[in-house]
Amino acid sequence: MSTTERTPHTRTASYLAEPGEVSKVLLLYSGGLDTSVMLKWIQDEYAAEVVALTINLGQPGEDYDVVQGKALQLGAVAAEVVDAREEFATEYVLPAIHANAIYGLGYPLFTALGRPLIAKLAVRYAREHGCDTIAHGCTGKGNDQVRIEGTVATLAPELKVIAPVRGWQMGREEEIAYARANGIPIKGGAEQTPYSIDDNLWGRSSEGKWIEDLSHAPDDDVFQLVTRPEEAPDAPQVVTVGFEAGVPVSLDGERLGLVDLLERAAELGIRHGVGIVDHIEDRIVGLKVRDIYEVPAATILLTAHAELERLVCTIHQNQFKGELDRKWAYLVYAGLWWEPLRSDLDAYMDKVAEQVTGTIGLKLYKGSCRVVTRESPNAVYDAALATFETSGGLFSQQASPGFIELWSLQSRMAHRLRERAEAAGPGGA
Ligand code: ARG
Repeated sequence: MSTTERTPHTRTASYLAEPGEVSKVLLLYSGGLDTSVMLKWIQDEYAAEVVALTINLGQPGEDYDVVQGKALQLGAVAAEVVDAREEFATEYVLPAIHANAIYGLGYPLFTALGRPLIAKLAVRYAREHGCDTIAHGCTGKGNDQVRIEGTVATLAPELKVIAPVRGWQMGREEEIAYARANGIPIKGGAEQTPYSIDDNLWGRSSEGKWIEDLSHAPDDDVFQLVTRPEEAPDAPQVVTVGFEAGVPVSLDGERLGLVDLLERAAELGIRHGVGIVDHIEDRIVGLKVRDIYEVPAATILLTAHAELERLVCTIHQNQFKGELDRKWAYLVYAGLWWEPLRSDLDAYMDKVAEQVTGTIGLKLYKGSCRVVTRESPNAVYDAALATFETSGGLFSQQASPGFIELWSLQSRMAHRLRERAEAAGPGGA
């Protein structure tokens, strides 16, 4: 009996592969349980060859040789490992810094930024290896399926997609049983259920276990990256971040390439307990979810960038850009990296970034990250004008009352009209 007869179903999207169409699969392979089970399962279920692709976006502590060896051991015909940190930093994280990108008050989008790049590389390697299908390990409840499949459908209409986790109905226990039966090594032991982790050089998320219980305060063991603030050093540390035309170029005066700078900033934040976020989030697919985020580098760099940008822009630019920033973050969160509006917004942000040169000092102390100094040749600021004591030059205090009278004119007139209507009572003229 063919697989088609065993599992009859209609295609819900044109890009989904029917079993007969799958002969060589590019699998986005992390080395974890889901994608390791998939590597075997695809070979059995589709009688297809599998090429594994693992992408380094700066996940701390990952041993890529081990991941590659595991893929080959599980029957992959090829196992590619790509170091995409540089591209991730310059083409994805830097635009996010320019957009001060935070979704829903606390999430700096590290996963959302990584997925379009991962899927773009999957397309490139699928074509290179002559694959007809891309496979990923996303579930049917999350955002990542939207980001990955949206990217593949946009960049490679000829490629099909399979998402086995969405359909195979194996829970964690069944996956572990499948792994045992098929000689798939299980990392960390099957007994203790780990959190579901996703990370890269811009941050780390944990989901699952007690995190799904909204009334449960974080257990200490979830913080595997950032030092818990109560255990951070008693002495604060001031770090200065230098920017040139919107690009962070130095820490404490030392010039660094972007990847190194992001990793260094992360280390500083990690030491001082900076960047812990306990976040309720509105997913694309309708659900609310709670994530625990550890985002030390993002907290430091977004705080510094936003401060410097506010200093070099006018009130009108600042008000306008905040709206664009929010739109940018939502498009990226929602899996629409390739939407033309996103690059249109980037064009404006690039223009603003030309002015964003200077240095911001931040004090890191037991979980807090607070701006303490600012300096920029482009600051729209004049200490002589700002001082309370003197008047003169471009600012005449004597002119202020005239300004106030005109500034408040419409509001005063409207207020009086409303007062009259209220005094007349309902139905009154
Ligand atoms: N909620 C975040 C997002 O949607 C993080 C998701 C983490 N991804 C994961 N597969 N665990 O971007």
